[in-house]
Amino acid sequence: MRPLKVLLVSPEVEPFVKVGGLADMVGALPKELAALGHDVRVVTPLHGATRRLGEWQALPDPLGVEVGETTHWARTWETTLPGAPVPVYFIEYNDYFARPEVYSEKPDNARRFVFFARAALALCPQLGWQPDVIHCHDWTTGLLPVWLNTTLRGTPLSRAATVFTIHNLEHQGYADKSLVAFARLPGSEFRTDSMESHGSVNQMKAGLYHATKLTTVSPTYAKEICTPAGGCGLDPVLRFRAADLLGILNGIDTVSWNPATDPALPAHYTANDLAGKAVCKARLQEELGLEVAPDVPLFGVVSRLAPHKGLDLLADALPFVLGRMEAQFALLGSGERRLEGGFRAAAQRHPGRVAAHFGYGGDLARRIQAGSDFFVMPSRAEPCGLTQMYAMRYGTPPIVRATGGLVDSVWNFEPGAGRGTGFVFQEPTAKALFATIRSAGAAYRARPAELLALRRRAMAQDFSWRDSAAKYVDVYRWAVAARTGAPLA
Ligand code: ADP
Ligand code: GLC
Repeated sequence: MRPLKVLLVSPEVEPFVKVGGLADMVGALPKELAALGHDVRVVTPLHGATRRLGEWQALPDPLGVEVGETTHWARTWETTLPGAPVPVYFIEYNDYFARPEVYSEKPDNARRFVFFARAALALCPQLGWQPDVIHCHDWTTGLLPVWLNTTLRGTPLSRAATVFTIHNLEHQGYADKSLVAFARLPGSEFRTDSMESHGSVNQMKAGLYHATKLTTVSPTYAKEICTPAGGCGLDPVLRFRAADLLGILNGIDTVSWNPATDPALPAHYTANDLAGKAVCKARLQEELGLEVAPDVPLFGVVSRLAPHKGLDLLADALPFVLGRMEAQFALLGSGERRLEGGFRAAAQRHPGRVAAHFGYGGDLARRIQAGSDFFVMPSRAEPCGLTQMYAMRYGTPPIVRATGGLVDSVWNFEPGAGRGTGFVFQEPTAKALFATIRSAGAAYRARPAELLALRRRAMAQDFSWRDSAAKYVDVYRWAVAARTGAPLA
């Protein structure tokens, strides 16, 4: 089979700019696809927060983007993903993207990403490069398949198949009806089986109706989103397209996330020799102002502060945990300020036992993953989740709620049975979380040998992109066959 030409279109890409796991995915999958021999490229906006890593070159010609009333002219920069032959194109348009935040609260947020998605399409002919597949990610790219099916239909570019990946159904990119005209799409697309929801434009829905194939980031989440309980209002659309929807568990970048080499860690270790992990714990306790106590179980959290992460359950459980057992907590959280309160209070009331840091801290995230004994992730919903996989790779059993990708990646510890890679609880309640933290604490005290075996099993899991990248290649070929009517030779 001939190699594929694939363009990934994403609002964030690690290591250039990252808000959450979407960036990790788009920074890692292309490397694996390139290693399989495909011509894979990435396009993303040049945000104010983008780091200019490596060599950058501006493309000679300005890029005309056909949105709004006049053509907008953007500049394109090109570099490669560090360590891989994957071109990355940055669309520079300062009116929209020269801001500190990636996703904006300002009213022009929807237009910013319509502009970006349209720019991604304009880039292909400018490069003289015809993709077989355009791989879209979440609502910010939702209108891209619509142009290919409508205003661009019949152009060479419209032969490209689209694969639309849902990373999180909760954010759907709602906007005023005027977005249809801004996008220069036909007014007839403003209907319930295309872009319209509740009298507004819903960009996620547009992508779900128009993309050739759909994927999401775990098999369990693929099932959950087809139900009213997990569908965020779009479950009828997902049931309608269920035959075209596949759940593929994300991998992780096992080169970057490796406790034997991670430069952010004060000591290194492997599954065979975990001595360095104890050093990481002691240094983390020092760094965060926790009591340096090797025998007290340390529970780590690294998370965006968003309601679906379930950290309110942890905030509610904390007073009981701290009142009834020896335990320390190290929390790193970024996002909604209103979710910080419970942790700030606990840190003030229990200095030396609870450390709470707010904001984004790339290296500190890694030191918490390595230095903790357990990793807490009580998500109410979790499409895939990467941090639990990083935790397992760093020998830190995760404590997770049974939802989405957490079901597909963490096996529950069964004392005496020699099985499991973490601790799984069912009900999204502070009580269930508390009980599970207690049993992890009990295993820490009473079953050290079993816990060591559990850490080693967790570290031995293969979360690399190898299998999942092969699944994406299958989906790409499936999409090309559906779009063009013939499988690729
Ligand atoms: P989500 O994308 O929903 O936030 P994931 O588990 O898929 O959840 O990915 C989160 C990614 O963001 C991980 O790479 C994690 O290390 C990182 N991360 C989350 N919060 C922070 C933070 N406050 N500081 C540094 N990294 C963070
Ligand atoms: C989203 C989801 C998260 C997933 C990530 C990468 O941010 O919330 O569960 O791991 O995307 O796909």
